[in-house]
Amino acid sequence: MGVAQKFEGLIEDVRENFGDDIIALRRRIHEEPELGFDTEKTAQKVLDAIGDLPLEIQTSVAQNGIVATLHGTESGPTVGLRADMDALPIHEETGLPFASKIDGKMHACGHDAHTSMLVGAARTLCQEHLRERLRGTVRFYFQPAEEGGGGGRVMVEEGALEGVDSVFALHLWPGLELGKAATKPGPAMAAADAFEMEIRGRGGHGAMPHLTTDAVAMAAQIVTALQTIVSREVDPVEPAVLTVGQIGAGTAFNIIPEVARIAGTVRTMSGDLRERMPRRIEDLARGITRGMGGDIELDYTFSYPVTRNDPEAVSLALDVAGRLFGEEAAVEAEHPSMAAEDFAFMLEEVPGAYIWLGVGDVSGLHTPKFAFDESVLPRGSALLAALALESLA
Ligand code: NI
Repeated sequence: MGVAQKFEGLIEDVRENFGDDIIALRRRIHEEPELGFDTEKTAQKVLDAIGDLPLEIQTSVAQNGIVATLHGTESGPTVGLRADMDALPIHEETGLPFASKIDGKMHACGHDAHTSMLVGAARTLCQEHLRERLRGTVRFYFQPAEEGGGGGRVMVEEGALEGVDSVFALHLWPGLELGKAATKPGPAMAAADAFEMEIRGRGGHGAMPHLTTDAVAMAAQIVTALQTIVSREVDPVEPAVLTVGQIGAGTAFNIIPEVARIAGTVRTMSGDLRERMPRRIEDLARGITRGMGGDIELDYTFSYPVTRNDPEAVSLALDVAGRLFGEEAAVEAEHPSMAAEDFAFMLEEVPGAYIWLGVGDVSGLHTPKFAFDESVLPRGSALLAALALESLA
């Protein structure tokens, strides 16, 4: 690392030159949310906003993703900056003038903000007076399918991270004071895995339970028993979550159904525990059903790994955020979040840091009323630009 870069005036520079464009782009993306890998129109909006810049642009990465490369004036390492582009299947209830025009789809996780902040960072860094400070290459990743599709994994599989030395991403974070940035070394977000269980008994008349094996009664026992895996088997100081989010059985009040189904999510922070969970869930549920005369079938999916930040990247990020926003606005987070993030796949390939950008006390992520103060957008662009400047100093 070379001499610490100066960031005085960078936020004002971004705000004055690009602030309105960043906000307008965010609103255009917000109005027309797209899900999963189907982010074609969003990608087009990004291309329209960066098409005039001196970037090498690669499209159709992970289907509708974009990788844009900016070469500095001298050669050196490569830093990656990543934003996610996809929305959620939620009906928006913010009442904003630029609210979603597409029924049942909404940018309720701030990915519209992340995308426009990254465009703002690209525009900022392409200015000659900043570009000439880049000793190396910046790669901008516009990624689809963060919300369950694993677009980050696909980008890695397609080789988009090859030759990259460090990588950073931002996420708007309700509950963290507006304008503050927070991150932590090591595990920052949980591994998120999913299970579905079919509980099989023998159906029959609701009035003759002795002639049946009641799948509903077995499911109820299983849901209760599953609570004891985290509370009784996991070290109390180790973070873990087991949530049964779905349960279903039966067709009528007086019929004992043959089959019941439950589904849930498991969140862990360590590889060991993560590996152990499916076996424990299966053994416990099978023990209960065998004892009651039935059986189960478990379908378990390992989804997103732990989002693990590199300690050096974290200290660089906190140092940059402190110099840009002021010391008190750069926070080393005490605890990880049990939410998950597919940037984890990129962090498995390349050291880097995932940074939370505070939007204060607003309706939570993934809620129909999620909205935030857009003054955070130019600040986020400035932070991304500063991370690149510092990494390539
Ligand atoms: Ni998100």
